[in-house]
Amino acid sequence: MDHRAAIIQYTARSGVLDLGWGHPLPELLPTEAWSAASRSALREHGWQALTYGAAAGPRPFIEWLAEHLDSYDHADTRPSEVFVTNGASHGLALATQLLTEPGDVVLVDSPTYHLALPTIADRRADIVAVPTDELGVHPGRTAELHERLVRGGRRVRMLYLVPTFGNPTGRSLPHQRRLELVELARRTGITIVEDDTYRELVYDGDAPPSLWSLAERGTVVRLGTVAKSVAPGLRLGWITAEAGFVRRLTGLGYVNSGGGVNHTTALTMAVFGASGAYRGHVASVRRRYAAQRDALLGGLRRAAPDLRFSTPAGGWFLWAELPAPLTAESLAPAAEGYGVAFVEGAHFFVDGADGRSFIRLAFSMLPPDVLATAADRLGQAIGSLRPAGDDI
Ligand SMILES: Cc1ncc(COP(=O)(O)O)c(C=O)c1O
Repeated sequence: MDHRAAIIQYTARSGVLDLGWGHPLPELLPTEAWSAASRSALREHGWQALTYGAAAGPRPFIEWLAEHLDSYDHADTRPSEVFVTNGASHGLALATQLLTEPGDVVLVDSPTYHLALPTIADRRADIVAVPTDELGVHPGRTAELHERLVRGGRRVRMLYLVPTFGNPTGRSLPHQRRLELVELARRTGITIVEDDTYRELVYDGDAPPSLWSLAERGTVVRLGTVAKSVAPGLRLGWITAEAGFVRRLTGLGYVNSGGGVNHTTALTMAVFGASGAYRGHVASVRRRYAAQRDALLGGLRRAAPDLRFSTPAGGWFLWAELPAPLTAESLAPAAEGYGVAFVEGAHFFVDGADGRSFIRLAFSMLPPDVLATAADRLGQAIGSLRPAGDDI
């Protein structure tokens, strides 16, 4: 009997190579190294590893994290500016809860991480997409939109975006726009919620500086997670924010009641980090995911030359534009027929119509040879829908 359906989120479909899920390749999850770190953490901290933890998270983890993040993204993050969460999703839910009242406007990038939308909507916020172009959020036009909303009597409290190796596009916001956005936040009082989930997974060059590192304190709340660099099942993430915001988090009723929200895991991660195991692990998964990215890119260039996409320098996703007049909705059943699946672009837009001609392909979950086969199948599916005589 197969018990996996009751254990993990992903459900495989027989015969389908699924590029829809942003999940890790199972063999890259560090089961042995994590098990060793767990034993060390219990040896080192004894009973303290298993009791209620400090509200913001255990100090050894917070100190390791602040130092690690600042070692390549110079933000001078102080321990009092870190709050440990159950992953970036939890960080987003908490930030939305603290920053907004029901009925407030929350601005979002377009396209943006599709599962952020229901998380923000849980707070009964009114989600409005900001103007964008092929480089990402357009700060000048976003300022105009903000002005229009405020003039119309709306409260605009928050802007959510994934500016570094974003989901779904894989692209990063240019430096100048980062500066303009943090200035806009400072001037207007909007808080930018920067989802920095993919920062560690950089394949070409360096990751750009975070908005958190560029902004005055009080304008950016940054979300992080070990979901992509270590393992999503750990449900371990963090918020970095000005110390006053962290104090509001530690004062939440359920934190007061239960202590730090992921104490034992965070202590284990501190050991995993301080031992050097994390650095080695990340270096190795970067190489593997880069090879997976290249296999999918190479396969698509060969098998689907009329798809338009750029090379993501990090993260897990490739964002592709279909040749006109093809839509993702019409391609999806044909692709399934050829044994390959993706996420339709419409999911990543507040107004789904804007995404009709896009698809998101995750290269995270399958090894290079399988990704090459998936690319072949996608190419065949696209070819099967081309108007007759198109290739003559
Ligand atoms: C942009 C973005 N934010 C958050 C998450 C979820 O992170 P976590 O598993 O830490 O909640 C994902 C995962 O797909 C993501 O792509």
